[in-house]
Amino acid sequence: MRMLPFLLLGLFFLESAQAVENLGLPPLPVPMDNPQSAEKIALGRRLLNDRRFSGDGTISCASCHLPDKAFTDGLPVARGIAGQTGTRNAPTVVNAAFYTSLFLDGRAPSLEKQALGPFVNPIEHSLKNHQQIVDIVSQDAGYRKQFRNVFGIPGKAITIDHVVKAIASFERTLIAGDSPFDRYYFGRDRSALSDSAARGLRIFRRKGNCSNCHEISWNNALFTDNQFYNIGTGFQRLQPVLDEFLQAVRDGRDPGEFELTAWQRSELGRFNVTRVIADIGKFRTATLRNIARTGPYMHDGSIETLEEVVEYYDQGGEKNRFLDAAIFPLHLTDQEKQDLVAFLRSLTSPQYQTSERP
Ligand code: HEC
Ligand code: HEC
Repeated sequence: MRMLPFLLLGLFFLESAQAVENLGLPPLPVPMDNPQSAEKIALGRRLLNDRRFSGDGTISCASCHLPDKAFTDGLPVARGIAGQTGTRNAPTVVNAAFYTSLFLDGRAPSLEKQALGPFVNPIEHSLKNHQQIVDIVSQDAGYRKQFRNVFGIPGKAITIDHVVKAIASFERTLIAGDSPFDRYYFGRDRSALSDSAARGLRIFRRKGNCSNCHEISWNNALFTDNQFYNIGTGFQRLQPVLDEFLQAVRDGRDPGEFELTAWQRSELGRFNVTRVIADIGKFRTATLRNIARTGPYMHDGSIETLEEVVEYYDQGGEKNRFLDAAIFPLHLTDQEKQDLVAFLRSLTSPQYQTSERP
């Protein structure tokens, strides 16, 4: 245990000064080879909003991660270039800096690596390669100046690594705590939660078993344990081919060669990364911060409201042979369900609060 702080320091430069407005969040992990700076953050913001980095000049990262929707898009599954849809819900980028792996199946180890993906995804930005971005920025006088200021390099030395470092730096500013829950729980302000939401917190931690995966620590809460679970959502898409698929994997066939629809492949979840059978249908525990602003829910956007999410868990999830043991019928009363929803609505940070009811 005593080694742990040193190990962490070896990996990250921990920002010591925690602003008060981030009540409830742990220190922000920042990779040593990509320290934050105001100029880099401004550059990252510009890159993230630039539509020129797409096949037809219409898509930027912000097309699917909209600031006024807490950096989601409000759609069940994301819509990319030429209106094409994928198979996954666009998750929030807010507090993504705290995840230990990125993407819903954890296939990227860092925000820097994550940002490489969408640009060359055929239904997202749909670029042929990353060189197209490098060409655009190195021919743009404004960008050239910014890259020189931030990285101290001339235009011809710009690489995609510099681009994704700046984007990741900007994303590390999208952190948000200080919700009514934080003021109640960590700030000891008993008036910050309604009675219903306060009862909901108790259900979240006990009868509902939610904090088993959506973790609340003693001095901060990310509402995720960064682990992967099969909670059943969307799994029925795999059922028709599951036996045959499992047999093929056991026979040593390459799962990538097995014929599956795009939807079915998506439902394999964590398995696509690890190729371990026990990981079939597992997805990373989602943070619940700002959850009232980021619907629809789940990796496939299949659940529209928080009331329906609570109903889903109350019924013990969608049965399947890989369903996690921590998902079981909860037998909540109507009042308890309402309280749990009231609690989930108390996780919205001030900057994502709007006057309209979410
Ligand atoms: C067409 C819509 C779309 C575009 C454009 C897009 N994203 Fe995403 N983003 C998604 C979807 C969908 C996912 C989840 C995909 C998955 O997990 O397989 C995602 C996942 C992410 C994640 C991981 C969040 C988590 O919970 O792990 C981050 C960070 C992110 N996007 C940032 C970006 C950046 C940076 C760009 C631009 C380079 C970008 N996105 C462009 C739709 C989009
Ligand atoms: C066994 C671990 C586990 C338990 C227990 C659990 N969850 Fe989850 N939760 C997850 C995982 C994993 C996801 C992501 C699933 C997906 O993307 O399909 C998730 C997703 C969610 C989402 C949607 C997040 C989003 O952005 O789409 C909500 C809301 C939620 N859980 C609330 C709860 C509540 C309330 C409880 C208790 C009644 C609970 N969870 C219990 C693991 C768990």
